[in-house]
Amino acid sequence: MSDTLGIMLTTLKRYPDNPKSNLQAWDSADELILSYLAAFDLSEKRILVINDAFGALSCALTQGERTTYTDSYVSHRALVLNSKGERGSINNLDQLSGIYDLVLIKLPKNLSFLEDILCRLSQHLQAGSKLVCGAMLKHLSPAVFPLLQKYIGETSTSLAEKKARLVFAEFQREPVESPYPLEVAIEGFAHPFTNHSNLFSREKLDAGTKFLLAHLPEGSFSRILDLGCGNGILGIAAKRRSPEAQIVFSDESQLALLSAQANYAKYFSDSPELVWTNGFEDQPRETLDLVLCNPPFHQETTIGDFIAWQMFVDARRALKTGGVLRVIGNSHLGYHLKLKRIFGKSKIIASNERFMIVEAVKTALK
Ligand SMILES: C[S@@+](CC[C@H](N)C(=O)[O-])C[C@H]1O[C@@H](n2cnc3c(N)ncnc32)[C@H](O)[C@@H]1O
Repeated sequence: MSDTLGIMLTTLKRYPDNPKSNLQAWDSADELILSYLAAFDLSEKRILVINDAFGALSCALTQGERTTYTDSYVSHRALVLNSKGERGSINNLDQLSGIYDLVLIKLPKNLSFLEDILCRLSQHLQAGSKLVCGAMLKHLSPAVFPLLQKYIGETSTSLAEKKARLVFAEFQREPVESPYPLEVAIEGFAHPFTNHSNLFSREKLDAGTKFLLAHLPEGSFSRILDLGCGNGILGIAAKRRSPEAQIVFSDESQLALLSAQANYAKYFSDSPELVWTNGFEDQPRETLDLVLCNPPFHQETTIGDFIAWQMFVDARRALKTGGVLRVIGNSHLGYHLKLKRIFGKSKIIASNERFMIVEAVKTALK
């Protein structure tokens, strides 16, 4: 291994670490990027690493002045843990600074997010700055190439190896402003929603969210969590019904929290609490009266109900006795059964051909 690279990838762990899972914390796209870089002297370079899932690239590089940008709390925590606290990340594209010579991008699935990144990046590149992007073939969308050509310059690719490929580009364009965030009007809400690029359903109201908005719980609640808040629409709607409530927004995406914060400020003069975390882990117990949640069913490219499960367990812990969790999900996900296991009981509040809204109330343990 060259002295550019300072870590055995096999020592890296995912976050959260599940000893029973055999999912790796790196992939062949990371390996391809690192073996490509091993031939270069990077000691004088300013290097930016973007979207490094569990820190494989950031931990492996030992040369140059290195910065990591991630929107994701899970990626940030993984990087801190895998680097034993030696590396951290910036989490807002406003924190990009100066000119970068080399940018390594693990291509995100969300192409709006990629476009936002490339536009913001264009203000921190100069002629000759180099991008090395990596992706697994199954996640490499052809739409990546026109985006790179539009905002960065001509592209070329490596040969595919171990089901991964690199895409190279050198900066040849002018700096541009990003078209994000979007301003999206939603029926029943006086102000358009500010939707940042890495947001779920950023161009229109999600059908599941719409269904849950039509079935919010009656009554007044003092402390309400919008869990996995996205643009904050559920928390804002809940606050309209409980004007005295303290609203807490939590999400693992910083861009979601930025959106929720901006949108909340259009309606209310108090400040919501913003919690950047995985699920609702490590939060105080027994403080919430109501939790609203439209859980995700994937984390970047990993699909499953593990995040929803964690969210429900975390929500139970953070609810006061008598507190209510109301969730929406595709009917086939069987959230009523999961909530029954976690809370002892659950109730289907409404359903249609696609979705089911389920409620669980926290009771004192016998
Ligand atoms: C289906 S979206 C719902 C967004 C919003 N509540 C709505 O209904 O429009 C799920 C949200 O969960 C967030 N999320 C994904 N993984 C998460 C995790 N591990 N911990 C916390 N939030 C997560 C996503 O960023 C996204 O905003």
